[in-house]
Amino acid sequence: MRQAGRFLPEYRDVRKDLSFLDLVHSPEVCLEVALQPLRRFPLDATIVFSDILTILDAIGAGLRFQKGDGPTLAEPVRTPGDASRLDWTDLGSKLGYTYEAVRLLRAGAPDHALFGFAGSPWTLFCYLVEGEGSSDFARTRTFARRYPDVTAHLLESLADAVSGHLIEQLRAGADAVQVFDTWGGILGETAWRHLSLPSLRRVQASVAKAVPGARTLLFVRAGHLTAAALEAGYSGISLHDTASLVDARRLAGRTVATQGNIDNTVLLAGPDAIRAEAARVGRELHAGERGGIGHIVNLGHGILPSTPPEAVAMLCEAVAQIPVIL
Ligand code: CP3
Repeated sequence: MRQAGRFLPEYRDVRKDLSFLDLVHSPEVCLEVALQPLRRFPLDATIVFSDILTILDAIGAGLRFQKGDGPTLAEPVRTPGDASRLDWTDLGSKLGYTYEAVRLLRAGAPDHALFGFAGSPWTLFCYLVEGEGSSDFARTRTFARRYPDVTAHLLESLADAVSGHLIEQLRAGADAVQVFDTWGGILGETAWRHLSLPSLRRVQASVAKAVPGARTLLFVRAGHLTAAALEAGYSGISLHDTASLVDARRLAGRTVATQGNIDNTVLLAGPDAIRAEAARVGRELHAGERGGIGHIVNLGHGILPSTPPEAVAMLCEAVAQIPVIL
């Protein structure tokens, strides 16, 4: 969850001379910022440095990151006519810088598990229509209600772009790929089943077909969607801190892994809060009857930029105390 992000002074140093997108487009620098947290903390895994929105740039929606304002798109899809301007060709070569970054990271961190990722079709659709971040994506939800056929078609095209992107990252050496359905949580369960689930299933089916046995994780930033998210058929489910770890593991059964769920604000709250949260995860992993299937310790959402690096070291130490009974 954005482990290489803005909380590390050495990352901010790299960013002094380079815009975020220039960084993402430079595989060697992506390698450097992905390695930075591995030098500091005893982590088991690394994630390729990129962003979920690069796909929107590649289809011609014109991505920009402005200081303090978050991402904006120069060419959002506000009407059905706008959708016809998008260019779905050659995405593999347009996004090739990320596959190169995966290859470099595979070689540079041979002993770490390596994650690739992409945004979910619905989450990409949210940015594509809204043209920027939003708390409720009202314009996007209105578009989806007003133009259901164009929406379904765009979600399918996005699903094909997302699966192609994940397949290339797996082929370049990623051990697992995570799909971020960050904005699935703005939908109620019925709407989510209609607007996000079908394209998530389409992604899972294409990836599993192209890379048999591929490990896939699905992150939904919402506790109320855990049961529905399990229907997408991914090999693991990544939990926001509003989800119940106990319920998720019960629902996931013995074949689906779990990940995440740690409240990212404990890292700002001092040693006692950190130890208490690690102990909570330990307790909840051992509740129930499940055993035999993994849990990836992680935050429930991206690390906050104001996190002191020492707090991450403390969390790693506290997590190492959790007895493992697999
Ligand atoms: O190395 C890593 O930690 C992995 C990198 C990673 C980034 N973005 C890098 C990044 C990952 C996994 C993402 C995913 C991502 N990007 C998501 C899904 C995860 C989530 O947060 O729910 C979303 C919604 C985005 C879109 C995005 N990118 C936003 C909203 C922002 C914040 C913009 C702002 O100014 O607040 C970004 C920028 C971004 N992506 C940064 C990083 C390290 C910060 C860039 C910087 O200022 O240097």
